[in-house]
Amino acid sequence: RTIAILNGPNLNLLGTRQPEIYGSESLDDIDRMCRKHAESLGFSTRFQQTNSEGELVSMVQDARACSAVLINAAGYTHTSVALLDALLTVEAPVIEVHLSSPHTRESFRHKSVIAPACNGVIAGFGSLSYRLGLDAAVALVDANGV
Ligand code: DQA
Repeated sequence: RTIAILNGPNLNLLGTRQPEIYGSESLDDIDRMCRKHAESLGFSTRFQQTNSEGELVSMVQDARACSAVLINAAGYTHTSVALLDALLTVEAPVIEVHLSSPHTRESFRHKSVIAPACNGVIAGFGSLSYRLGLDAAVALVDANGV
């Protein structure tokens, strides 16, 4: 029982990247927090990050064997039809997560191209979005009896 947690472009810079928007925790901090929280719920995690759109598509394809997928597609959230198409092939629950709340920001962030492939979105709570996303993923997995 593994949950894939996929992170898109520029999230490798977390902690130093616009901390007033994205917080001071690093991506490694979020990885550790997710691993611990998932383990307490009986799941392991596969935590990955890439700056490349194609690689993110491949990570989604590889995640099809997982129990659930959490994805922070970062900038590709708003642009990537290829990512949407990959996510549409995932039968397991898919949760879209964001650190910031895109709807309170520039209008080009208001549209999520990938949302139609996701069960739901959790945004605006910093790293807590990931933790809440894990809770949602586990609830959906349990409800499906997987
Ligand atoms: C983000 C929000 C996106 O609009 C932005 O491009 C990101 C990060 C977030 O986690 O708040 O890179 O996905």
